[in-house]
Formats: sequence, C-alpha cells, structure tokens
Amino acid sequence: MNYRIPVFTDDPGWHGKRLKEAFAAQGREAVFISLKDCFLDLVHGRPGVVIPGFEQNLPDGVFVRGVPGGTLQQVIARLDILHALKMLGVTVYNDGPAVERTVDKAMTSFLLHHHGVSTPSTWVCESRAHAQSVILRETMAGRALVIKPLFGSQGQGVRRLDIESPFPVPMEAHVDGLYYLQSYIDSGEGEWHDHRVFIINGRAVGAMIRHGSSWVNNVAQGGRCEFIPADGDIAELALAAAKAVDIDYCGVDIIRDRGGRLYVLEVNSIPAWKGLQGVVDLDIAAALVGDFLSKIRPRCDSMAAAV
Ligand SMILES: Nc1ncnc2c1ncn2[C@@H]1O[C@H](COP(=O)(O)OP(=O)(O)O)[C@@H](O)[C@H]1O
Ligand SMILES: [Mg+2]
Repeated sequence: MNYRIPVFTDDPGWHGKRLKEAFAAQGREAVFISLKDCFLDLVHGRPGVVIPGFEQNLPDGVFVRGVPGGTLQQVIARLDILHALKMLGVTVYNDGPAVERTVDKAMTSFLLHHHGVSTPSTWVCESRAHAQSVILRETMAGRALVIKPLFGSQGQGVRRLDIESPFPVPMEAHVDGLYYLQSYIDSGEGEWHDHRVFIINGRAVGAMIRHGSSWVNNVAQGGRCEFIPADGDIAELALAAAKAVDIDYCGVDIIRDRGGRLYVLEVNSIPAWKGLQGVVDLDIAAALVGDFLSKIRPRCDSMAAAV
C-alpha cells in the first residue's frame, strides 16, 4: 500500500492544510500535485498515466481539490487523467465523470430536470436570436432572468436581466458564445439569501444560510454564513440533487422563493467549505477523508508490488 495520497490542487491554501491534517490523522500523507504536471505516457507495459512522485507505483486514490482552467484541449487532457486513473483502479474523489457533470452548469441543470429535482426554468443555447426571444418573452411577462457563465464559480459573472437590461452580446465574458439563462428566483429583495448543503456519501452532513449583500449570496462575494440544521425539506432536496448527478460528495446551492418553494441552483463537485466549517461542529475535512479512504480498494499492481 502506498501511504501517500495525491491531492490535486494548484492552490492548497486553507483547504489543503485541513486535508493534510485529516490525512495525517489517518496515517496518510497528502501530497499536493497540479493536474497540469500529470501526463500520459503510453508505452507498452506501463499503466499510461504518470503522476509526479508516483512513477513507480500509482496511488490507491487521488483527492481532486482543483481542476485548473486552461484551453479546451488542456482541460480535456486534465479530465482524461482523472478518467484514466479511475479505469486503472485508482479511487478518484470526486471522479472525473462527476466533476464533468457538475462543472458544466448546463449538464447539471439537465440532470436535475431529468430526475425531477426542483430547479428554476433554464435555457441553454448558442443562437443569439433564440436567446433574445427567451429574454423578451420572460422579461415582458415580468419574470427576470439570470445569465451565468457555464463554467463559473464563486458568483463570478452572474448577471440579472430585467426588462430594461441591455441584451447581453455574445462576446461578453458571462456569455462567451453560449447563453445559459435561468429564471430569477426572488428570495426577498434586500434580504437575499440562499442555502448551502454539504453532502457526503448520500448524507447531508452540514448546512447553512448565506445572507448576501446583493442577490449573489456566495461567501466569496461577501455572503454571511448562518448555521441551519441539515435536515427537513432542504436536506431532502440536496440529497436528491446529489443523487441526480451521481456524486460522492458535493455542495448543493438551494434557494427558497417568497412562496416557500425550494429550487436547486447548482451542485458543486469541488466545493469550498471554509464558510460552512465556521458554523458547524463536524470536522468537514476529516469527514471527507474518512469517506474517501473507506472507498479505496487495494489496486492489483500495488498488491503485486507488495508480494
Ligand atoms: N436563478 C437564480 N435566482 C436567484 N439567484 C440566483 C440564481 N442563480 C444564481 N443565483 C445567485 O447567484 C449565486 C451564484 O450562482 P450559482 O449558480 O451558485 O453559480 P456559482 O458557481 O458562481 O456559485 C447563487 O448562490 C445565488 O445567490
Ligand atoms: Mg454556487
């Protein structure tokens, strides 16, 4: 058995430190590695994936804390590494397919819709004319829309469209040639808030309300965290969302409209948990590491190496 576990990240920071401690408490050493430094080496007789520091023996598992952005080719090659590792029997947490399904807001929205999980009406299209007709129809009917970048995070680039908003042009950063439009859910003008529920292995382990200083409630945008119990209708909906995208662990964003109805906004496969950790007792890094290690199965070649 290899006691070292790669944590894929380009920026270990607070989360890296917490993971390192949690792995150490389990007798494992977390090693921070960038997915940019991994590569394929498809020579006969070799496994094909090279992780720096693990050339002789692939690890039993890898913890994915970040997939760096880049060109389309680079991002696909980084995801290829995750897919290939899984095929080689390495436990990938969260695995490549789950990261792919959730880093792409359109696929997440489709899966939520497909599995009957409550989520706001959403439209995704390349056609400027079609986007314009959706925006006109919805805003004329008094329903505001939100436009988001497909691969966005931390509330960056989300914008609200009302009847008087200028039409977003295709070159703008939050469009980038693709319109992801969603019905705006009003959580209370001036009292904006949404919920973050943390799911590990089919269990809601922590939850909070995020009170935003604008309608964008992300902690990274100054959202203030308040503890709520991880149970009831919010937890149930978050669990259904995690199931719909089929993922080991995730952070689910949920918003409640003024009428009390809940909607899933998105599912995060590489969620930050610093804000949540500030309001819950559970050691989230320890819970993640515990679940990850419980999913590790000894790999054939490492067993062969051991005998
Ligand atoms: N349809 C919506 N209605 C109302 N608020 C929204 C909607 N979509 C997003 N928001 C607000 O914007 C924030 C960021 O959107 P989200 O979809 O979670 O993307 P990100 O990946 O940037 O966190 C949410 O936490 C919420 O406060
Ligand atoms: Mg979010």
